[in-house]
Amino acid sequence: MFDEIVDRRGTHCYKWDRLQDACGVDPDEGIAMWVADSDFRNAPPILEALQGMVDHGVFGYGYDDAGFRDAICWWQSTHHGWQVDPDWIIPTQGLGHAIGMILDTYTGLGDGVCFFTPVYHEFRGKTEKGERRPVEIPMARDGDRYVLDFDAAEAAMDPSVKVLIFCAPQNPSGRVWTGEEMRAVAEFAARHDLIVVSDEIHSDLIYPGAKHVPMAKAAPEHADRIITINAASKTFGIPGLRTGYAIIEDPDLRAAYQRRMRMTEYSPATPGIAATKAAYSPEGAEWVKDLVVYLDGNRKVFDAGINAIPGLWSMPLESTFLAWVDFSGTGMSRDEVMHRVRDVAKIGVNLGPAFGPGGETFNRFNFAMRRALVEEAVARLQDAFSDLQ
Ligand SMILES: Cc1ncc(COP(=O)(O)O)c(C=O)c1O
Repeated sequence: MFDEIVDRRGTHCYKWDRLQDACGVDPDEGIAMWVADSDFRNAPPILEALQGMVDHGVFGYGYDDAGFRDAICWWQSTHHGWQVDPDWIIPTQGLGHAIGMILDTYTGLGDGVCFFTPVYHEFRGKTEKGERRPVEIPMARDGDRYVLDFDAAEAAMDPSVKVLIFCAPQNPSGRVWTGEEMRAVAEFAARHDLIVVSDEIHSDLIYPGAKHVPMAKAAPEHADRIITINAASKTFGIPGLRTGYAIIEDPDLRAAYQRRMRMTEYSPATPGIAATKAAYSPEGAEWVKDLVVYLDGNRKVFDAGINAIPGLWSMPLESTFLAWVDFSGTGMSRDEVMHRVRDVAKIGVNLGPAFGPGGETFNRFNFAMRRALVEEAVARLQDAFSDLQ
């Protein structure tokens, strides 16, 4: 089912229709491996739910839907063993929106917002757009994976830092943090009186051997400062429906967010609510199991092909469909690497430096696409770097 060809060109699709403008790659001959969304047809329960709305034919106002909250509670409980009270849930327009709302609610102009890098570029983006101060804490390396450097984190702290945004699982490296690591982050936040935002959008695409532990479950004694943000969007390929959720257990913390939300008159769009409910269902769960098996296959094809090119190295992933590839072993300049990736292989990627310190020699490749296209991308990269073979 995931091998089906779904041509997204000409569908107002950011990833494919902006490929030329953003990456300098012609979509008619290129491969879009940037933007973290997937090219697969959506799961049948989602399509049925949306088709039902179209057949009904009226797109009137909706309301804050108890079924949406119940579906989230069911999903978190069955997939992550976390018992969430429906009252803790606040719908959002997605996680970017939630991060903006959080910074707006709990910080002021010039306040510090910290995060471990390299990381999803919009942590820095939202901080800067809101005229807050990004405080970047480079992660350390333990062999072939990243670890958190709390000495560096301590050194970066000052009283103006108010929020820590944590990516769990980690984009771009695919690290799945252990319960102890999650707990250590919450403890660090408590030591410095930070609100900690745990971005768990990638928590349902976990490869065999790893296990995601929600931060609020790993560190329940710090619930008064934890805001979890999540969505069905990455897993189910529905980010265009712009629906996610924040889970805030602490009543005072939650009240502040809700006040801001009421003032901006945000309410979720009905198709996003319907799709999330349909996704977070037993049928949706079965579909995700198949998806993870398929993505695991893509990951193996991609990594084997990339690691066969001398000088290129794909970091082993525990989660996500985003491969993090280091080009430093080629000894080439970034311009030369990008010339080969963009102009020779004709592949659009996310540039490593955008993810902050630690990303300088990397690029990020999204392989959430049919296997044949992943194989094609690998073959093109092998050709583009064939002088290194
Ligand atoms: C870690 C992380 N958080 C948030 C987002 C964006 O979420 P949304 O589309 O809901 O704004 C992404 C998208 O790539 C992401 O990787």
